[in-house]
Amino acid sequence: MAETPSAAPTTGAALPPAAAGLAAAIAKRRATVGVVGLGYVGLPLALTFAEAGFPVLGFDVDAAKVEQLGRGESYVDHAPAARLAPLVAAGKLAASADFDRLGEADALLLCVPTPLTPQREPDVSYVVATARAAAATLRRGQLVVLESTTYPGTTDELLRGELEASGLVCGQNFFLAYSPEREDPGNACYGTADIPKVVGGVDAASGDLAEALYAAALKAGVVRVSSARAAEATKLTENVFRGVNIALVNELKMVYDRMGIDVWEVLDAAETKPFGFMRFNPGPGWGGHCIPVDPFYLSWKAREYGASARFIELAGEINVAMPQYVVGKLQGALNERGKPVKGSKVLVLGLAYKKDVADPRESPAFEILDLLLGLGAEVSYHDPHIPVAPAMRSWPDLPEMRSVELTAEVLGEVDAVVVVTDHSSVDYARVRRLVPLVIDTRGVFRDHSSSLVPA
Ligand SMILES: NC(=O)c1ccc[n+]([C@@H]2O[C@H](COP(=O)([O-])OP(=O)(O)OC[C@H]3O[C@@H](n4cnc5c(N)ncnc54)[C@H](O)[C@@H]3O)[C@@H](O)[C@H]2O)c1
Repeated sequence: MAETPSAAPTTGAALPPAAAGLAAAIAKRRATVGVVGLGYVGLPLALTFAEAGFPVLGFDVDAAKVEQLGRGESYVDHAPAARLAPLVAAGKLAASADFDRLGEADALLLCVPTPLTPQREPDVSYVVATARAAAATLRRGQLVVLESTTYPGTTDELLRGELEASGLVCGQNFFLAYSPEREDPGNACYGTADIPKVVGGVDAASGDLAEALYAAALKAGVVRVSSARAAEATKLTENVFRGVNIALVNELKMVYDRMGIDVWEVLDAAETKPFGFMRFNPGPGWGGHCIPVDPFYLSWKAREYGASARFIELAGEINVAMPQYVVGKLQGALNERGKPVKGSKVLVLGLAYKKDVADPRESPAFEILDLLLGLGAEVSYHDPHIPVAPAMRSWPDLPEMRSVELTAEVLGEVDAVVVVTDHSSVDYARVRRLVPLVIDTRGVFRDHSSSLVPA
């Protein structure tokens, strides 16, 4: 159950003169909110502020997204066109690729990507590029808030320096804070406005302004922390917690499998304990834009302080190795049937990184496909949410693929199905009936039979 957010404390200190105009505009919901980076995070955020009555101007380098939004169309499931279009038509929500207009916004919320480099180090190049664009038009009284997930210190070391290159001084002429996005795509219970917003300023005035802005738009309220660093660390703590627990339950799955114990039965029983246990489910690895990426922002930064984040590194090792474990299970099961993987027809069921979403980022399905192709399997996939497999930077050698329909003919021809994502709309019982071997990484099937291999 979500905890009630604490009443948002303010510092109570008088705001510097440059902040007074913005504070008044926020109170009247007349402050123009600029959202930079209109992706999975930025678009729902822009929508939330527009629905709260603020004029919103979104920015993106992707002209196609800007054009789509201009037509009132959406490309993000949890910011549907039905909610966007009336606001666009009423002129309350607009989008632009013209970064000279950044100065039109009273508050700029930065939601650009923060991926890892191929060496698994933070890639803050998008944040730097955005900061430089914002610095070029920065004006007295503007508030800048970074929302992208990142290591503690990004806001007050990196971003502040880039913005102060404009000649304006943080905390006096302009204001700077960090507030992490906590979006959970596909979660029907919690949208952007329902999730308490953690806010930390680089200085007290910046924190006060950012707190006032979010409190005016988010019904779940604001949780004020003492600094931008504390807010950055809060977000990383949440995601490290998930990454480590996913690794733990994946390790338990492999241990119990050796011992002939069904991990799903154990988890069902363990979660009946009313306290002290929080369930995480095992799977084919970890995926999505956040969990496989963010923890390494912290372990990288920790090294600067001579500290090592061993749980993070170990969780990475275990979770990254899961696709290999799944393929090993398939290999073993085919072997028992006298078949090599080479030449076998294998259908991967689900490409998205989690149930009922269309997001393929960092999905373990790609690694599984890559491993199977390397072993000479004939692969195909089905995903009701992803009709065409996108090109993936980490798997450049994968061929172009389209989702196949689960017809009786298709299922009748495959040697095995690997359930990678447990999308709700799939008729699993039918798959089971028509396919000789199912490798189940999600606990879709709970019975035990020779045609079903948990992995
Ligand atoms: N997706 C999530 O569920 C989620 C949840 C919490 C936090 N986050 C964090 O939020 C940040 C954004 O993630 P996302 O999922 O929205 O990414 P995304 O890729 O969906 O969106 C990023 C957008 O930024 C645009 N962009 C790139 N460079 C730009 C620039 N220089 N100026 C303007 N726009 C630019 C891209 O075109 C894209 O539309 C990341 O730091 C991520 O870790 C994401």
